[in-house]
Amino acid sequence: MNERVAVEALTEDQARDELGRLADILARANTAYHGDDAPEMSDADYDAFKQRNAAIEARFPHLKRADSPSDQVGADPVEAFGKIRHAVRMLSLSNAFEAEDVVDFDRSIRSYLNLKADAPLAYTAEPKIDGLSLSLRYEAGRLVHAATRGDGVTGENVTANARTIDEIPTRLTDAPEVLEVRGEVYMSHADFEALNARQTDRGQKTFANPRNAAAGSLRQLDAAITKARPLRFFAYAWGEVSAPLADTQMQAIDRLGALGFAVNPLTRLCRSVDEMIAHYRRIEDQRATLGYDIDGVVYKVDDLALQQRLGFRSTTPRWAIAHKFPAELAWTRLDGIDIQVGRTGALSPVARLHPVTVGGVVVSNATLHNEDYIAGRGAKGEEIRGGKDIRVGDWVQVYRAGDVIPKVADVDLSKRPEEAEPYRFPDTCPECGSPAIREEGDAVRRCTGGLICPAQAVEKLKHFVSRGAMDIEGLGAKQVEAFYHDDHLPVTEPADIFTLRARDAENLSKLANRDGWGETSAKNLFQAIDEKRIIPMARLMFGLGIRHVGEVAAEDLARHYGGWAAITTALDAARPAALAHRAADEAAEAERQVAQDEGRRARVSDARNAALAEADIPPRAAEAWADLINADGIGPVMALSLSDAFANDHERAAIDRLVAELTEIEPPESRATDSPVAGKTVVFTGSLEKMTRAEAKARAEALGAKVAGSVSAKTDLLVAGPGAGSKAKKAAELDIETIDEDGWLTLIGDA
Ligand code: IVH
Repeated sequence: MNERVAVEALTEDQARDELGRLADILARANTAYHGDDAPEMSDADYDAFKQRNAAIEARFPHLKRADSPSDQVGADPVEAFGKIRHAVRMLSLSNAFEAEDVVDFDRSIRSYLNLKADAPLAYTAEPKIDGLSLSLRYEAGRLVHAATRGDGVTGENVTANARTIDEIPTRLTDAPEVLEVRGEVYMSHADFEALNARQTDRGQKTFANPRNAAAGSLRQLDAAITKARPLRFFAYAWGEVSAPLADTQMQAIDRLGALGFAVNPLTRLCRSVDEMIAHYRRIEDQRATLGYDIDGVVYKVDDLALQQRLGFRSTTPRWAIAHKFPAELAWTRLDGIDIQVGRTGALSPVARLHPVTVGGVVVSNATLHNEDYIAGRGAKGEEIRGGKDIRVGDWVQVYRAGDVIPKVADVDLSKRPEEAEPYRFPDTCPECGSPAIREEGDAVRRCTGGLICPAQAVEKLKHFVSRGAMDIEGLGAKQVEAFYHDDHLPVTEPADIFTLRARDAENLSKLANRDGWGETSAKNLFQAIDEKRIIPMARLMFGLGIRHVGEVAAEDLARHYGGWAAITTALDAARPAALAHRAADEAAEAERQVAQDEGRRARVSDARNAALAEADIPPRAAEAWADLINADGIGPVMALSLSDAFANDHERAAIDRLVAELTEIEPPESRATDSPVAGKTVVFTGSLEKMTRAEAKARAEALGAKVAGSVSAKTDLLVAGPGAGSKAKKAAELDIETIDEDGWLTLIGDA
């Protein structure tokens, strides 16, 4: 995708062209979505194009096209999947919440079957997997299609995606001629964490929980994306079968296991309600260590002939029930609200709660997000919780999902003490007393104290020594915090870490004589610190803890500038332009306000351009600024933050003191120059089957290629998968070498 030029940096002419290009791309993508099975792009790319289009339109409202993609109802990705009518309906389960409900379930079954209370009647009990159900149809032992549940009658055809799941066999031996296997697609906790970490690294959205991640991954238009996401499958039921699988549920599950499906190892046969409840407790006890999400236990009548007799109600079988785990919710009193100050000065409100057990864990702190959340407003100023605010003394509902930090979800106004007062969010920093300011468009209020704020200083130091940054053995968060408060060997800024050995030598109460330290550990610490005097540029950049500059951005900056002197020179040169652009942003914002008050259309770009013209930016500064914001992965917001940090006298002095202590700042590893694609500009189009787009891009870049989003005269090579459209046409016109995915893999030696 052509993200080379940031929206904020587009000239009017460029913006007009870009809107035309985007209208074209999105129209074609829509056709591909609705048409055959050859979607052109992933959902993520589609969304990114749409967002870019909307952002350009927001900046240049007068350039909006008559056929603007923003006015078209986006193709619902779901419609891209064909529909499949289930041969046997896919049902849901009725629920039990208490042991008493399970007793009733057993009683009603006995009554339906006219069985005495003491007549033998067995049930299976197994975990209820929190994923999404899938029906797999096999004919003559071959997987012919896979469908989601949908409304139970028809579901979506996700066959291509299901085929990429390792735990779903595509061939069966000794299976009935027709066999529909049903079960749950899910993602393990470990895979979920890793996926979210990858998404964060790539600047893509993360998933709220494993269920959403599994659903999002299964319902991908691009099967290559599904393939790259580690989905799993438990078989627990079946639909149409041309010959019975077995006589009992337990045997049928064993048969599915023998056919090669994963079946849940916690499935047990129970001969009484007491045994069912006992197994429910056992599963509940193991819940936290299973490694995947479950939300209850399912009981099924074991005898399949009895299941047949019991049959169905409208949407649920009579022979099964889901015994749900208690919700991870609890009510308790809010005893206080503390404010924590983070590395970038963000003031985060934390609820101090009267301790309460939520889903088996004692909770006494929970996040309150930010001041709007406390006041009952969401991120866009909309009402949340019906506009109810949260006050100290209130009864609040605490919510805990998986391992995430507990949240305060709701408040009970009927229990609000009379004297409870609306919470006043501090406008000064509780740690250093500096003004705490909330900038336009920021949900967060921040301490302006910078390094004079002890909380920010300590958090910055912790960040500096963290894994992705300096990663100094023996010097973790706990140790730097102790050094920060140490009277004899204080560490108040990163440079102080590197002077520790020299200062310790002069110090009478040597580190080696202190509690918790000894000769060896002190020596090892100094040694570990010295080892980090040679440090990769990206780690140093990231370690500075500048707002918006994460690990990936630090890497991008290091690659772009290639050396420490280059980046500091560039930032200094760009400073006048940075200030002018901030002023222009403010002028644009002021114009928006005034226009709104006066009820006329805002001339935002005029205001911005006038401000920029007035600033009379020196050409060298304009050039340095343009080079910075157009660098891969860097945008104007990050650029401004960087510029501010390096232009701040205190911060800059601290950075310079640190750099003076270092022996070498290693430039980024030079990209491979001996690969066949080094230095070439490559474009990928169409769908890739053996790798995701992101993987392809990363691999190409590692080999020294530059990956572009659109074909132009500068393109050296087009890699076109199935469904390649206009890019392939354009490449042909321009006589650009075009190869397919296998050709690419052969070329780079990955085949
Ligand atoms: S049996 C005819 N067993 O729960 C009954 N369902 O709330 C077929 N589920 O739609 C379902 N684990 O997606 C069954 N061990 C399990 C299950 C399970 C999860 C899901 C399934 C179903 C939903 C009903």
